[in-house]
Amino acid sequence: MQKAADGSIALEARAKLNLTLEVLGRRPDGYHELRTVFQEIALSDEVRLYPCVSLCLECSVPSLGGESNLALRAARLLQDASGVGAGARIVLVKRIQAAGGLAGGSSDAAATLRGLNALWGLGWDMERLAGIAARLGSDVPFFLLGGTALGSGRGEVLMPLPAAPETWVVLLFPPVPEVEGKTRTLYSFITREHYTAGTATRRLCDGLALGKLDASLLYNAFEGVAPRVFHGIGAAQLALKDAGAAPVHLAGSGPTLFGIVASAGEGEVVVRRLEAAGYRCCLTRTARRA
Ligand code: C5P
Repeated sequence: MQKAADGSIALEARAKLNLTLEVLGRRPDGYHELRTVFQEIALSDEVRLYPCVSLCLECSVPSLGGESNLALRAARLLQDASGVGAGARIVLVKRIQAAGGLAGGSSDAAATLRGLNALWGLGWDMERLAGIAARLGSDVPFFLLGGTALGSGRGEVLMPLPAAPETWVVLLFPPVPEVEGKTRTLYSFITREHYTAGTATRRLCDGLALGKLDASLLYNAFEGVAPRVFHGIGAAQLALKDAGAAPVHLAGSGPTLFGIVASAGEGEVVVRRLEAAGYRCCLTRTARRA
């Protein structure tokens, strides 16, 4: 978090991947019980907060700038819950693909909560902010913690994990039609046969404790249903593999795909091949807790 001479605060709002995403079953409240390893990546949006009498939002992607924007909703919730009289002008510079499974909107919301906590001098601790974050969405609390973390419950019960070794990944944004209510739709296709016991997650955590990231343990329960929701994703998956990334997995609820590459140099080669084939993609890496 950086404070400028004009009193504004700038924050980096990073994207995330789920190294594992296991669905254990359906809960009485309708949500699904998860075991997931969240991993922040270097790709980020920028959130800038300026002192202002009221709350307003400017977004570099105008279609994402309305009242439903999660950063603005986060600000309104915090303003109400804290009873603060001040406002803020929120300026979002979007670099994370929206609705791609990288949780850019959730990250913007968490950065806004952290930034406004400072801008408004609230002095709230992370636990109190996490209460607001969880009301905004299941992925938002993770970004208050960052780095590598184990998520359980609906994803909001978090435990910090040792940082994953730096790993380069190529992200591919498949040219598939946008799906309304994407996350809800994906969960609606999840049935008993997709449930797992959390073993891959546990084993991945054991590896992280030893400073290793075992790529063969990467897992995402949504992969079993993604082709029914994202038509044409199979071709993009093959293209990422053929370009030289392995293994290839769905990023969160997708449709973004990620593939592991051995180095930045190898990643650049993969990106060039994919771009030559007409795909939108970028190279990034895992990031440590700030
Ligand atoms: O919490 P979030 O707004 O991200 O969730 C969107 C939808 O995804 C929820 O309304 C719910 O239908 C589904 N969901 C679920 N189990 C979870 C998280 C989300 O069933 N652990």
